[in-house]
Parts: sequence; C-alpha cells; structure tokens
Amino acid sequence: MRTATCAAPTNIAVVKYWGKADAALNTPLNSSVSVTLDAALLAATTTVASNPGFSATRLWLNGEECPVPNRALSVLSALRAIAPDQSLARQHVHIVSENSFPTAAGLASSAAGYACLVKALAELWGIKEQFPGQLSVVARMGSGSASRSLQGGFVRWNKGEREDGSDSLAEQIASEAHWPELCAVVCVVSDQAKDTSSTSGMQTTAATSELLRYRTRHVVPERVERMEAAYLARDFATFAKLTMQDSNQFHATCLDTYPPIMYLSDVSRAIIRLVHRFNGDGVRAAYTFDAGPNAVLFLERQHLQELLSLLLHCFPSSTGVHVKTTLPVDAVAKAPRGWEDVAIVRDCVKMFYVSGVGGGATVLPPEQSLMDEATGQPLRVSHRSSSLQPWMVGASAVAVVSAAAFAVWKR
Ligand code: PMV
Repeated sequence: MRTATCAAPTNIAVVKYWGKADAALNTPLNSSVSVTLDAALLAATTTVASNPGFSATRLWLNGEECPVPNRALSVLSALRAIAPDQSLARQHVHIVSENSFPTAAGLASSAAGYACLVKALAELWGIKEQFPGQLSVVARMGSGSASRSLQGGFVRWNKGEREDGSDSLAEQIASEAHWPELCAVVCVVSDQAKDTSSTSGMQTTAATSELLRYRTRHVVPERVERMEAAYLARDFATFAKLTMQDSNQFHATCLDTYPPIMYLSDVSRAIIRLVHRFNGDGVRAAYTFDAGPNAVLFLERQHLQELLSLLLHCFPSSTGVHVKTTLPVDAVAKAPRGWEDVAIVRDCVKMFYVSGVGGGATVLPPEQSLMDEATGQPLRVSHRSSSLQPWMVGASAVAVVSAAAFAVWKR
C-alpha cells in the first residue's frame, strides 16, 4: 500500500467570493482575497492510500464512512489526468480525513478539506505543478475557497478570464512572515451545520440579487486592489475597515436574495456591536463572517489580550475556559473601565481560537498517517475518540459533529 498524509489550513476571505460564473467549472463571479490561519489550530488532515487490491474508492470523514461526493470525484479525475504514472493513478484510493474543528459550520472546513485532498493525492501520485497555481485550479473544483488554502499568508484567487477556467487560480500575495503582528480570534457561535449551503445560497443570490450584480461589477475589483495594498503596507486601519465593509456587503447580498438568506445570529450582531464599541473612534479590530454565524476577528497583537479578555467577559461559558490558542495570551475574563454596563451573554460562544497568520498545506511524515495500513481503513473508527478531544481546552466547548460530518463534502 502506498500512502501520503497532508495537513491544510483554513483560510478566511476578507474580500469574499459569492456567486459562480460557471457552476460546472466552479469559477467565481469575482476575485477574492484571504488570510490563511494557523494549521496547528484549524486544519484538515488527510491520508490517501492506493493499493491494486482496493475494489472501490472510499472516504471516511471524522471517522465515519461517507459516500464519495461528486466534487471529490471531479478532483480525483482532474488529478488523474495529470498524474505521471497512469497505472498507479488508475488504482482506487481510500481517503481518511479529519477536521480539527466543527465541520460545515461556516468555518471554511471545505476549504481546508479539499485543499488537503488535492495536496495528499498530488503527493501520492507524484504530481508536480506544470505552472504555478495548477493545484489550486483542481482544489477550486472541490470548493472555491479551497483554492486559497494551499498557500499561507495572504492569498488572492483570481476570477480568471479563460473559458476552460485554467486561469481561475490562487496566488500568494504575501507570505505568512509578512505581517507577524496580525492575528485572528475565531468565535465559534455555532458548531451546527449551516442552514443554507454556500453552493445553493450563492445560486439563489446570483439569480435574484441586484446588489450582488452591483457588488461583483463595481465594488469588488477596486476593493481587492485596495485590500492588497493595505495588506502589503501593513496598514491595519484600512485592512480592517475594508474587511468589515466587505463582510457587511456580503451579508447584505444574502438579505437581498429572494427568499432572503440569513447567516448572522443575534450573537453575531452582538459581536459586531462589541467590535465597533471596542474601536471607538479608531480601528483596532475587524470582524468578518462567512456563511454562518461564527465571527473571525482580526487585530494586531498589541490589542489581543484586551480584546480576548473582553470577549471572555461578555461571552462566558458555564463549563469553564473555552480558548485554544497558539499565541501567548491569558484566558482571563476582564472588562476594561467603562464597560461595566455591557450585556453578558452566557454559553453562546462555544469556543475561541486564537491564531496568527499561518503557512500553507504541508506533507506530514508517515507517523502521522490516519490510515491503518493493515486494513486500509481509518486508525480511529469514530471521531468521538479522535483528535478532536485531546486538544480541547474546556470540556464541552466543541460538540462532536456527526450528522453534519459529510454535509460539507456533499455540497
Ligand atoms: O468555497 P465555498 O463554496 O465554501 O464558498 C465560500 C464562501 C465564503 O466563505 C462565504 C466566502 C469565501 O470567499 O470564502
């Protein structure tokens, strides 16, 4: 049996993709840009194996076997077509994948998942890119945002012009080392699968929202340029304001959809108000929300402790501390002077992840394989006893997602 194991990070778009130019190719109506988060916190890990004896291609996600979705089959056939050793690539594969965070809850799990699948299959089959970004073209077929998860730092996914989608690919604009002060606090408001999948949501928005038409033509092209310039100049105030405006406009297009799509919850809106109050007359933090109620807050390290303490004060958990971090911060709840009147909303933010800007997808050593090489099946049969548990800080903070487990692959 041959195996390859990879990890891929999640990424958070700060100018968002919403709407497909070509559904079959999975090309977008507009270019988008994102920040890659630290894979030590929020990542997919995938082992792929091939063996002439396998009789079918099979997938296990978070320990449970799932039907192989069409998107994954498209990824497999696109990579088979460019594999150097066709007899190897023709063999069936077994795929074992785990997420270190709730699947399909608007935390870009499909981005990490498909980027990881592409990276692992490319490693298994010895595929080298013929041009920069070729693997991101394949990842895009799995999930649009996955195109941006192969690389670290600040990444742009170009809309592309060609009919065949071959230039709709992602490129790194700045590496993860470019802005060491930048960090993110991910607030997990919900760990349930979202109501409206991004694929069906963006179809309805593209069909019914005039605001989306305006946005893709008249707002995003210039905003992407300004965002890139702000990131390269490490101009936090501009970066943050554009991030918030873009998130708000994306959710406005969702509301402009008929019937409307509502991804934000009361807790999301409480976080928006909290950030604006925290900012006062300046800009110290920015929020952004994808297709779900979870907030991702960007800020510079100098403000991290104050904001995290405030968040822990406003959104306490009855089950104890619920922070997972790769940066040195104390998980102490504290409101600054003047915030005595702020509303306390208990047990509504289930988890905080504190992350720096992260690197791209990586190949892991064989010891980190998720596959039992004797059986070609997962080492762990259920994610209930899987890697989700040991790194959790604060017992019941992240519920185990079961029914939602393969929803993200199905879309
Ligand atoms: O790649 P998808 O189909 O999961 O869509 C992603 C859509 C957003 O997360 C809302 C925006 C983005 O650019 O990541």
